[in-house]
Amino acid sequence: MSMQQRFDDSPMVRPSRRDGSAEPLVRFDQVTKRYGSLTVLDQLNLEVSPGEKVAIIGPSGSGKSTLLRALMTLETIDDGVIEVDGEPLTHMPTAGGHLIPANARHQRRIRGRIGMVFQSFNLFPHMNALQNVIEAPVQVLGMSKAEASQRGEELLAMVGLEDKLGHYPAQLSGGQQQRVAIARALAMRPKVMLFDEVTSALDPELCGEVLNVIRQLGEAHNLTMLMVTHQMGFAREFADRVCFFYKGRIHEQGTPEELFGNPREERTQAFLSAVNEAH
Ligand SMILES: Nc1ncnc2c1ncn2[C@@H]1O[C@H](COP(=O)(O)OP(=O)(O)OP(=O)(O)O)[C@@H](O)[C@H]1O
Ligand SMILES: [Mg+2]
Repeated sequence: MSMQQRFDDSPMVRPSRRDGSAEPLVRFDQVTKRYGSLTVLDQLNLEVSPGEKVAIIGPSGSGKSTLLRALMTLETIDDGVIEVDGEPLTHMPTAGGHLIPANARHQRRIRGRIGMVFQSFNLFPHMNALQNVIEAPVQVLGMSKAEASQRGEELLAMVGLEDKLGHYPAQLSGGQQQRVAIARALAMRPKVMLFDEVTSALDPELCGEVLNVIRQLGEAHNLTMLMVTHQMGFAREFADRVCFFYKGRIHEQGTPEELFGNPREERTQAFLSAVNEAH
């Protein structure tokens, strides 16, 4: 079936769920992403509820970063639909009620609900911490500089950097830079935060600082979080659900107790024992 047919056949508004559970905030429906002959996301399905904390684990190359990048619209997808808050990210409805590929404006609007933090901090090197945090609210949201600065200071205080507002990235440790990156993503008031191995470039002590900030965020705000991590200890303690990725699909998922304590699938067991041996 072609993509167009599928969208034409699909109703615009899905009926509310029979079991009464909340609509997912993020929904991947049969999402496929290919690079040439390599299928990186393979008819992937994933639903994330509002406020849910989902850890994504799995071998290198299994598609974890691609999943987050697709949600952030940094990658296009070849088939399927991604929805944020009930609205398709990659498609938009026509007046006649059909779905057509989204234009840039639609994508920007939906993407505004999502913040992402990367392994490499990606701060603007020529801007100090506060300037990094206020840049997008001023440029993209059109917030006044005064309002953005006030909020930026609050956010930097929240990540423990109230005394580093004027520091440039080169004057900050890796952990501090990563915390600026978190504050910068939060400045856009996202509903969903994506973290892609945000502690991998940090030594253990700095890593702890960053994880503490993420933990506090999770507790203090009802933020929905998707986190790709190699830190099984953190995933276990922090996540409501752990998804084990393998070959572009969720091979197994469950609560941390289920997935770490009693993995059912052979591939999950092999991955977890390899990770345990490495530590
Ligand atoms: N731009 C690209 N062009 C071609 N292939 C790509 C591109 N980006 C990613 N890939 C391939 O897609 C696959 C999935 O990549 P992805 O980065 O999602 O993996 P990952 O699960 O995040 O791995 P890791 O744990 O190493 O970060 C890999 O085989 C990768 O080589
Ligand atoms: Mg990755």
